[in-house]
This record gives sequence, C-alpha cells and structure tokens, in this order.
Amino acid sequence: MKGLILSGGTGSRLYPLTYTNAKQLIPVANKPILFRVIESIRDAGIDDIGIVVGNTAEQIKEAVGRGGRWGVKITYIPQDKPLGLAHAVKVAQPFLGSERFVMFLGDNVIQGGISRLIGEFSTSGWNSQIVLTRIEHPEQYGVAELNEEGRIVRLVEKPKIPPSDLALVGIYMFDHHVFEAVNAIQPSWRGELEITDAIQWLVDNNYTVHPYVHQGWWIDTGAPGDMLSANDLVLEEIGHSIEGYVDRDSKVDHRVTVQRGAEVINSTVRGPAIIGEYARIVNSYIGPFTSIDHHVTVENSEIEHSVVLENSRICDIESRIQDSLIGRDVVVSRSPIKPKSLKLTVGDHSKIGIL
Ligand code: DAU
Repeated sequence: MKGLILSGGTGSRLYPLTYTNAKQLIPVANKPILFRVIESIRDAGIDDIGIVVGNTAEQIKEAVGRGGRWGVKITYIPQDKPLGLAHAVKVAQPFLGSERFVMFLGDNVIQGGISRLIGEFSTSGWNSQIVLTRIEHPEQYGVAELNEEGRIVRLVEKPKIPPSDLALVGIYMFDHHVFEAVNAIQPSWRGELEITDAIQWLVDNNYTVHPYVHQGWWIDTGAPGDMLSANDLVLEEIGHSIEGYVDRDSKVDHRVTVQRGAEVINSTVRGPAIIGEYARIVNSYIGPFTSIDHHVTVENSEIEHSVVLENSRICDIESRIQDSLIGRDVVVSRSPIKPKSLKLTVGDHSKIGIL
C-alpha cells in the first residue's frame, strides 16, 4: 500500500499563525502535526508516501525533506489550487498508480494510530474504508448516515441539519476505483471537489465502502480551540523524560518532558507539559497542559494550558497567561515606559482577551 498526505490548503481558520506558516507544521506537544501523520503511516508499515502540497510547498519540503529521518520515501505532489480533497486525489493519480492507498489529512490527529485499520483494509476485498466517530457538532464535518445493518446510506459534507452524529475522520482508504469516482463528480457549492461526494459515488455504484467507527479521540486541528485540545490530548499520551537541565531550586513533576539543551531554573513545572530544546524557564511557573517550544524564554512569569511556539519571549508578566496560543518570535513583556497602559503590536486576525 501507499500513503497520501494532504498538506495543501490555506489554513485561514488559524490566522495569524498560518499567515507565515503551513498549518500542518504547527506543533502539538512540540512536534508538527504533519510529522505525527508521517509516523502513524510509517508505523502501519507503509514506506512510500506522497505529500500533496500547495502554496506552502517550500516550507513543507524544507521541514520534511526526503523522509530518511523516518525511514520512508517522500514524493511531493504539487496541487496548483486547493480545489478539494477529491481534486488532490486526482493530481496524485500518477504517484498512486493502481495500488491501494491510505489518504490522511495533514491536519488530523487520531488516538491509537492506524496500524489496525491498514491491516484490515489491506487484507479485505473492500474498495474503500472510511473512519467515522461520534461527535457533538458533526455539522462542521462530513457526516455519514448508516442503515440498521451498519452499511453506509448517505454521506453529506458540512450539513446544516446532520443526519447522524457520525463525523468523517480525515483518514480514508481506497483502491483504484476512486479515480473513476473523482472523475465523475462535480464541484460542490463551495467550489471544491469533495471526497465525501466521491465516496457517495462509490456507494451508489455498488462498490464496497466499509465504515469503521473509531472509539478513541480524534482532532481536526483546523481552529485555535482545537489546537489546544490536541495539545492536551497528546501531552497526556506521550512518555516523559528529562534530557535538559533542572536546577535544585526547581520542582518538576514526573509528567514533564524537558528536552535536550533546555534549562529550568528556580521554577515549578507541573505536568503534563513539555519544555522544548534550548528553552529557558527562569523564576517561573509552567502549569499543566502547556507546550513550550524550542528556544523560548519564560522569565518571571506564569503560564498554563497554553502553547508557545519557537523563539518567543515571555518576561515579567504579572498576570497568569492561560488558554493561549502564542506564535513564533513573539515578545510579551512588561514595559516600564509611562503612561501605564497596554502597548500592543499585534498582527492581523490576532485575538487578545483583556480582563
Ligand atoms: O478533518 C475531517 C474533515 O476534513 C472531514 O470530516 C470532511 O469531510 C473533509 O471534507 C475535510 O473537511 P475540512 O473542511 O476540514 O478540510 P480542509 O479544507 O481543512 O482540508 C483538510 C486537509 O487537506 C488540510 O491539511 C489541507 C488539505 N487540502 C485541502 C484542500 C481543500 C489539500 O491538500 N488540498 C485541497 O484542495
């Protein structure tokens, strides 16, 4: 089997973080989501992986390279415009050939990996397997309706009134019949060739599409709230270790990772949390569910349930920072300059909550 990762698109729901960076490269627990996707596919025994890329192609190529780090071979597949998930399958046809494949959306994180799913599909006679999960607000996703025997009757993309609570997770398995489907369908109201419509086409034309209902957690990291939730869930799961330096005056509990070259000085870190490579935590408190990325400095400040991306500095902040997503190279500091006021230099689409 081959792997296909979709890493094009715009990431507009994550502005401003994705103005300058591909959304698939935003880290969850200090590791880009895209790397987690590659690892899930590799762990399922697939080493030939295509990545569909759009206008952030160069960044993705620079970060991922040829795949040697994971022992896989990566082929980049350019998509001129983000014309839909089924369009991405179309442009990937020369890479996929007639092999069965798994398509994994580059911004999805799923609990437990996909080895079992791949194992089942590769030995089955099914033409496709889709992954569903029960959620409270399925209207933001593709939604499936199953009949009493558990077979798929209908799939709809982001319906106003969902026919069930079963959302389509961004992991799909297909054989070559999917190319007939993506060539047969028309663009939707949002101008995209929807993979949901392609799967519906397979169902309507009597191909076997097996619905697998996933029981663990799943997150589409499309929006800022989802990034924090994904961070919480992944921090709870990963193993923790101390590779950096923690001084005697600091308290770091057992669910904390301190990565290589990081320093924790006279501070308290409560897990689950991760302190990235060469980060410096000085006279500070880092609370549960926080990811501090590499080369970040936190000094004389308190922060919890937050994600801070690379090279940022948080210094001398009196109020505790909470539920926050802080981008790259950001400076949050106290200013001694009078008058006493908030002094902000904030990018487009930023959100600031002030009490
Ligand atoms: O996350 C699951 C959902 O993903 C499913 O429930 C929906 O049925 C499915 O349509 C999709 O919905 P989204 O609106 O969340 O898809 P999004 O536009 O965010 O794109 C998903 C990934 O695919 C993302 O990493 C960007 C990439 N992409 C997207 C498009 C439209 C491409 O590579 N090319 C594209 O043309």
